[in-house]
Amino acid sequence: MTAGPSAPPPALSGARLLFSLDPAVAHLNHGSFGAVPIPVQRAQQRLRDEVDANPMRFFTQGILDRVVHTRRYLASFVGADPDGCALVPNATAGASIVLQSMRLRAGDEVLLTDHAYGAVGLAVRRECRRTGATARTVAVPVTATQPEVVARITAALRPGRTRLLVVDQITSPTARLVPVEDIVRAAREREVPVFVDGAHAPGMLPLDVDAIGADFWVGNLHKWAFAPRGTALLAVTPDWRRRIDPLAVSWEQEAGFPLNVEWQGSMDYTGWLAAPTGLFVLRTLGVDAVRAHNAALAAYGQGVVGKALGLAPADLPDPGGPTAAMRIVPLPAGLATTPAEAQALRRHIADKLAVETAVNAWGGRGWLRLSAQVYNRAEEYDRFAERLPGLLAALQR
Ligand SMILES: Cc1ncc(COP(=O)(O)O)c(C=O)c1O
Repeated sequence: MTAGPSAPPPALSGARLLFSLDPAVAHLNHGSFGAVPIPVQRAQQRLRDEVDANPMRFFTQGILDRVVHTRRYLASFVGADPDGCALVPNATAGASIVLQSMRLRAGDEVLLTDHAYGAVGLAVRRECRRTGATARTVAVPVTATQPEVVARITAALRPGRTRLLVVDQITSPTARLVPVEDIVRAAREREVPVFVDGAHAPGMLPLDVDAIGADFWVGNLHKWAFAPRGTALLAVTPDWRRRIDPLAVSWEQEAGFPLNVEWQGSMDYTGWLAAPTGLFVLRTLGVDAVRAHNAALAAYGQGVVGKALGLAPADLPDPGGPTAAMRIVPLPAGLATTPAEAQALRRHIADKLAVETAVNAWGGRGWLRLSAQVYNRAEEYDRFAERLPGLLAALQR
């Protein structure tokens, strides 16, 4: 006999009311774009009102100080040097800033894993095409233990040739927590610079970015730290800071990193300035309580949906850490095996079942990725588990 799904956690009562999500839909994909709590929306709107009341005053009186103050506050939350990281719009921008600052040359190589985020892979390939460098991918089985993950990636490094290793802290298609500290240590011993893509890390994991020791680290605050969309931090170790090029040159170019990256002319800075309100919400709910709730609910969701699809607990990948708020479930063979099919299935599930979830094609098969956040309830996963098998069976006919 196999064990059933783990018990769901008690709800954090009242937390649901903090969000303006459509109650007719089960939002089981916090991971992709997050969800902004109402107090954070309100804080940002007040800032927008301030901008629109007097744009001249907003953009000329103290805006840089406000950006710096906000960045330092957010940096302390993730354990990053407050003057060694820059606010950037998202992990996507952070990745391109890092890649273009590497000044790759023909013969250089960038190493990625096969769990890397698709758009970051595209950015790596474009930079390689532009510079004559090559991109190489190391395969890491979804079932690999943490020491195996480290060993696989370390064995794929080619000292002297690998100019950058890109490794995710929490992988997107496979929702896997990666032991980045050990990987960074191994890469540093071989003098290979490392870019840690921590897009999902702030809020989901206890973080000490400086202790990771990566040359570059980026993390979104708009996923699991309740910031408005467009809020991310790019941390850079001292050796590299002078070489960092912003994507667009603006008035703070001569100030160097991080202000040259942060000041990008007339754009909407209100999301960054409202981001501390997101941390306030998270802390008010209790950071540890939120993490424990989300991890337990994601495990529950994976269990019930996996069971409904006829899977044994051993068929459900372990996320590799205790605070994983996303988990994956393999789909029946033949479904969602390409990115286009995965997107079509995701839309079909949303349309027919009113469930927002992530579907990814990875390693030759389709995977469902379930997120859990404080606004979710066990019943949402139960209902999804009841209805998903019928929907998939109809597609397989
Ligand atoms: C691992 C990883 N990297 C990068 C990104 C891109 O994030 P953004 O769209 O905020 O730039 C994501 C988004 O889900 C991700 O999961």
